[in-house]
Amino acid sequence: MEKIISLCKRRGFIFPGSEIYGGLANSWDYGPLGVELKNNIKQEWWKMFVHRRNDIVGIDAALIMNSKVWEASGHIANFSDPLVECKKCHGRFREDQLNGECPSCGGKEFTKPKQFNLMLKTFLGPVEDEKSVVYFRPETAQAMFVDFDNVVNTTRKRLPFGIAQVGKAFRNEITPGNFIFRTREFEQMEIEYFIRKSEWEKWFKYWLDQMRNWLKHLGIKKWHEQEIPDNERAHYSKRTIDIEYDYPFGKKELYGLAYRGDFDLKNHNQIYMDPETQEKFTPHVIEPTWGVDRSVLVAMLEAYHEDDVDGEVRAVLKFPHWMAPYKVAVLPLSKKPELSKVAEEICQDLRQLFVCDYDETQSIGKRYRRQDEIGTPFCVTVDFDTLKDQAVTVRDRDTMKQDRIQIKELKSYLNGKLQ
Ligand code: GAP
Repeated sequence: MEKIISLCKRRGFIFPGSEIYGGLANSWDYGPLGVELKNNIKQEWWKMFVHRRNDIVGIDAALIMNSKVWEASGHIANFSDPLVECKKCHGRFREDQLNGECPSCGGKEFTKPKQFNLMLKTFLGPVEDEKSVVYFRPETAQAMFVDFDNVVNTTRKRLPFGIAQVGKAFRNEITPGNFIFRTREFEQMEIEYFIRKSEWEKWFKYWLDQMRNWLKHLGIKKWHEQEIPDNERAHYSKRTIDIEYDYPFGKKELYGLAYRGDFDLKNHNQIYMDPETQEKFTPHVIEPTWGVDRSVLVAMLEAYHEDDVDGEVRAVLKFPHWMAPYKVAVLPLSKKPELSKVAEEICQDLRQLFVCDYDETQSIGKRYRRQDEIGTPFCVTVDFDTLKDQAVTVRDRDTMKQDRIQIKELKSYLNGKLQ
C-alpha cells in the first residue's frame, strides 16, 4: 500500500485533499492521471452495461433528493452503524469492527453502542431549521426507483430491464481509512434490474456472472464470493453476495450483489403495468453495485509490478490497454528543434485517436521508466534517423521490445495493438 500511495502522489494519480491547508481527513483528489484512469473505468463500465445492451438505460440524478425519499427507503430509520466511545481516550469506533481493545490507546472499556446514522446532512436554502434539512444521497440506487415511472413512460422498456447510474454517494463513516478504500465521499456504479418475482433466482445468478466478467475485464485474477447471513444484510436485502478482495490490509468488500425484492418500488408506490396482459404489479429488483474508487484501488494493486532489468528494479503498472491513462508517449531523443518539430507533429496527429503524453526532459532511459511507472503501453521515440528514414521506434511497455515503424503507418500500427 505504501508503494501505491506514494506512486499515486508522485505521479499525479491521487493527492491528499486540501493538502496545503493541512488536509481533510480521508479526503482525496484525483490528479491528472487519476482522473483519466477513473474515467476510463467508468466509461468502460457504461459501454459494457448500457451502450452494448438493449435492456439497460442510464440516468444521472440529483445528489440531494427530497428527504421523503430517505424516509420511504428506510435510510432515516435504518442506515446506521453501532458507535461506541473508548472510556479512556474518547476515540469513537464502529463496534462491529473492534476486537475488544481500543485501536488508539489499548483501552478495554467502551460506552454502550448507539446507532449512528450515516447520512450526511445539510440545509437547503437560507433558513437552517428542521424543515430545510436534506441529505446527500448515501447510494445512487434510490434515484432509479424514484424515476422508475418516468423511465418506463419515456423509454417503453418492458421487464426485464435495468436502470444504471454512475455518481457520487456520501456516508458519514465512523472509521474511514485505508487510502481510497473507505471514504466519506465516493463514487458508485449501480444497476437496478427490474424483474418478475418468480425469476429472481435466475437473474441473481445471471448478474453474478456479469460481475465475474467485469472483474476479469478489470484484470482481477482472484476474488472471494461471500454469502452474507440474514442478520448482517442491509435492511432492504433478501439475499446478498459480497465480492471480496485480498487487499494488503486484509480481505474486505469490493462489490456487492443484492436481491432487494420489491422493497423499494413498493415504498415509493411505483407500479408496473404489463402492456400485453394489462396486469399491474410491483417488479422485484436485482442490484449489482460497484464502487468506483475501490475499482481504481484494486486496478492499481493488480497492475503494479516490479521487474528486474539489468540488476535494477523497474516499477511498472501493467494496466489493460483500455484502462491506461495515456496510451502513447512521444519522446524525441533530444531537445534539438529539428527533432522536437517532428515529434510534436507526430504527437498532435496521434492525439486525434489516443490520449498521448509528450515528454522531452531527461535521458531516454529515465523517460521510459517514468512511462512504465504510469502504465503507458507504448512509447514512440523520434531520433536523428527519423529525419532520414521517416520511421520511429515503438517500445512495448510489457515486453520492452522495440519495433521500427514508418510514420505513415504509425496510427494503424498502434490502433491494431491497442485494440
Ligand atoms: N445500493 C447498494 C449499496 O449502496 P453498499 O454495499 O453499501 O451497497 C456499494 O455499497 C459499493 O459502494 C460497495 O461495494 C463499495 O464498493 C462502495 N462503497 C460503499 N461505501 C464506501 C465508502 N465509504 N468508501 C468507498 N466506497 C464505498
